[in-house]
Amino acid sequence: MRIAITGANGQLGRALQQRLGGEHDVVALGHTELELDAPACVAQLVRTRAELIIHPAAYTNVDGCARDPDHAFRVNGLGTQYVALACQQLNAPLVYISTNEVFDGTGGPYFEYDRASPINAYGRSKWAGEQAVRELLQRFYIVRVAWLFGGERNFVRTILRLAAERDQLALVADEVGSPTYAPDVAAGIAQLIAQPFYGTYHLVNEGSCSRYEFAAEIIRQVGYSERVTLAPIALADYKRDSVVPPHTPLRNLAAAALGIRLRPWQNALADYLSQIR
Ligand SMILES: NC(=O)c1ccc[n+]([C@@H]2O[C@H](COP(=O)([O-])OP(=O)(O)OC[C@H]3O[C@@H](n4cnc5c(N)ncnc54)[C@H](OP(=O)(O)O)[C@@H]3O)[C@@H](O)[C@H]2O)c1
Repeated sequence: MRIAITGANGQLGRALQQRLGGEHDVVALGHTELELDAPACVAQLVRTRAELIIHPAAYTNVDGCARDPDHAFRVNGLGTQYVALACQQLNAPLVYISTNEVFDGTGGPYFEYDRASPINAYGRSKWAGEQAVRELLQRFYIVRVAWLFGGERNFVRTILRLAAERDQLALVADEVGSPTYAPDVAAGIAQLIAQPFYGTYHLVNEGSCSRYEFAAEIIRQVGYSERVTLAPIALADYKRDSVVPPHTPLRNLAAAALGIRLRPWQNALADYLSQIR
């Protein structure tokens, strides 16, 4: 199948290229090849003659979205509308990558059918993208992921860098989510697109933890536990530009019904650490 991938040089974009490249004819569109903040991207996507588009490209800087919500909406909301319009013209299904941050974080763990209620500009812009997909297309997979690691810039890399520099780290203990390994999501998407069960999915590694527990597991797996001490802090005391939904573990019910489950996040983390060290 001919598959166009947006944001092809991002964390998930790269994992998708690797996972799908052998089996499919992949058209990889990085930010330099495809600008979503311009209606011309519709015609450009149509010219790829893709039979399926996978759309992980997004403005993913959550604090940046809070500082410039218009840009967030143009890229994540309108940009996704453009991708959906291209799919309409191509008569091709769309895989849109969405986020745990469409939920307000007061009632997790969240199932695929739970009501979205985003509380920050990033979440609202990604939810706008979901709505555009649902309004414009009949054949789509909306795949929500969370706390992604797998590329160069993510929480795991940050903790490794800080732990190499310091003996004490302060970590938020009351923000809870589902750490998720990008190559595992890519493998799940490969299974998903092989069957026409369109709809909304949560593809996250099994289990959940706080930022503090996530960091503790990273430190433990790399053998720094003796040297590096972790201090728990409250989300309310961690000053940043965006508000954060505090409790957003995702439950995979819909993909599991198709036999698609991602392994426990601790095992995926061990795999990632062995790749990068
Ligand atoms: N990372 C997470 O923890 C997380 C959690 C939940 C959901 N998600 C969702 O998962 C998806 C993949 O995340 P990721 O971590 O792989 O993101 P990423 O590494 O930030 O990759 C996103 C890609 O989109 C590109 N992009 C940004 N603005 C663009 C624009 N205006 N036009 C075209 N391309 C643009 C970026 O290019 P430049 O870098 O060159 O701008 C980047 O290569 C996203 O849709 C995100 O919302 C991520």
